[in-house]
Amino acid sequence: MIMPIVQYGDPVLRKKCKPVAKVTEELQTLAADMIETMEDAAGVGLAAPQVGVDLQLAVVDVSHDPECISFLKINGEDIAPEDMPDHMPIVFFNPELELLEPMEADKEGCLSIQGVQAKVNRPSIVRAKLPQLDGSVMELESDGLLARAIQHETDHLNGILYVDRLTSVAKVRVNAALKRLTKRQQY
Ligand code: NI
Repeated sequence: MIMPIVQYGDPVLRKKCKPVAKVTEELQTLAADMIETMEDAAGVGLAAPQVGVDLQLAVVDVSHDPECISFLKINGEDIAPEDMPDHMPIVFFNPELELLEPMEADKEGCLSIQGVQAKVNRPSIVRAKLPQLDGSVMELESDGLLARAIQHETDHLNGILYVDRLTSVAKVRVNAALKRLTKRQQY
């Protein structure tokens, strides 16, 4: 089921989400609905608060472009970038991230902040422990858009939006657009 995506200004996007305590049938359905919603919106990631649920659950899919990463390791196994799409989408909850430099600036957008894009500086490499719905824990290491998307979605689970991470110059430019979005929501 495609769910409505919560938009900028909604307080649920600012919540520190609750950890998932147990994988229930309800949680599995929510994850499946989030994948469908992300695909319908042509997004590369979606976090539960974006569909109004304050739980630490997110989905990521960067399979549209195997060249968006330069390496991928899953559970200690090297995966060739061209085989990365076989491992998408990734559903995870209660993520634990280790972030490694160098920093890298790249354009980001968000399905909850329509019509806005800006460059965000982030650590370029992520080592992540990503608990899976089947009870296993995926240990993932990657860079590029996958590392960025995992960080962006994990931020959502902590009530942080990418526009919070802009340089002050970029913030000035983006602020006017954000004000318009907030206003729209009030009517
Ligand atoms: Ni987002």
